[in-house]
Amino acid sequence: MLDLIVKNGTLVTADATFQADIGVQDEKISVVAAPGTLKEAKRVVDAKGKYVMPGMIEPHMHVAAPFGGTIDVLDFYSASKCAAFGGVTSFMDFSSTVKGMSVLQAVKDRREEMSHAALDYGVHAKFVEANERVIGEVKQLIDYGVPTFKMFTTYPGVMIEDRDILEVLKEAAANGGLCGFHAESNPIAEFNRDNFAREGKLDWKYFPEAKPNACEAEAVQRILTFAEYLDAPVYFFHLSTKESMKLVREAKARGVKVLAETCTHYLTLTKAKNDGPDGVLYLMSPPLRTKEDQAALWGALQDGTLSLVTSDNEAFTREQKESFLDKDANGKPIIDFRKPVNGTPGLEERFGLMMAEGVNRGRIGLNKLVELCSTNPAKVFGCYPQKGCLDVGSDADIILVDPDKAVKLTKENLHYGLQYSLYEDFEAKGWPVMTIRRGEVLVEDGKFLGKEGTGRFLKRAISR
Ligand code: URP
Ligand code: ZN
Ligand code: ZN
Repeated sequence: MLDLIVKNGTLVTADATFQADIGVQDEKISVVAAPGTLKEAKRVVDAKGKYVMPGMIEPHMHVAAPFGGTIDVLDFYSASKCAAFGGVTSFMDFSSTVKGMSVLQAVKDRREEMSHAALDYGVHAKFVEANERVIGEVKQLIDYGVPTFKMFTTYPGVMIEDRDILEVLKEAAANGGLCGFHAESNPIAEFNRDNFAREGKLDWKYFPEAKPNACEAEAVQRILTFAEYLDAPVYFFHLSTKESMKLVREAKARGVKVLAETCTHYLTLTKAKNDGPDGVLYLMSPPLRTKEDQAALWGALQDGTLSLVTSDNEAFTREQKESFLDKDANGKPIIDFRKPVNGTPGLEERFGLMMAEGVNRGRIGLNKLVELCSTNPAKVFGCYPQKGCLDVGSDADIILVDPDKAVKLTKENLHYGLQYSLYEDFEAKGWPVMTIRRGEVLVEDGKFLGKEGTGRFLKRAISR
């Protein structure tokens, strides 16, 4: 007898929409059959009137990730809950590598921390330097199931030298790895930061001005040059500007092996949000941009220049975001755009925002949403077709979406326990009402049923 049947639903995958029943056995999809043909199972879920999609995959988030002296509010179990309410069934985070450390050990440490998750999880390896030891670990990481790496071109401390980037890129390309980049020009950001400060321009609104579009474009161009020179594949995390879209589009046309993502906040918010005292809540790197950039990002999703939409989730309280500010005589924080803690929540909101601003507004269809938030994350980060589709043999990661359910993205409707939501004004029509991970129901009737430590490490491999 089957473990589970999901019947009468409308299946929505990256490339098709059709009526079918799904049978689940031993955590996998064992059959996809004509409606009404599957009869017996330990549990039968009636999905009549619902969309049935592969579980969403969040490949870019930061949870329990130290930032200076502070740490975000989630751990991997509470993050599993927020994610599952947002239709996510697998997620990936980054090793907390520091200089002088074994990257493989940093990955193993992170794997251990992530083992508290109720979702399946992967780890990206962060490289902060290239020396004989860590270059020797590139192949070991890939064999271990971690073929995806992140490097920063900014943030002294984690920033890696250009010369070292070339070493990691070359070794990764030779062994089947994919290097991803946080691409911002450190010199441009520091030059502007110091000049604004000299002029007394310290309001939150100067944060995006200090990291203008050219700040991202310079680093994107540099990495593309490296990739083209070495014939190495590269990935860009969190692209935010129209200039980057042009650079990536042109590089793809030249045959450069480049893939890129943007994040929900760049698609839905603008830097006008940084104006005023609440501006700190909307600070992340790269910063929010203009309506024009937003239009370019939607266009790039539509024409395939961008392959993924991620959240870059890192959830802080307001107090945490302001924790490095000096205080006035009354103990009130003194606004200084050089000192906020960067990062914003988004893990739970991604599906709703893509419905509200993408599907509900006719910018993308449902299949494209699945492609951007499930299928492509699985393909790009090396866990397809185990994840990211509804094929026979794939893990039974399935979400049911009620097309008529309208939900406002208010702080009360989200599960971070924060005193704010960045998206109070957004309402999504079409909402995940059931989340199933490997055949186990994690969210049903507005309740989280997932158990700590039931997630599994994703051993990934990039297919070329
Ligand atoms: O401001 C951001 N994006 N915080 C998270 C860390 C990162 O750079 O992705
Ligand atoms: Zn980043
Ligand atoms: Zn990030």
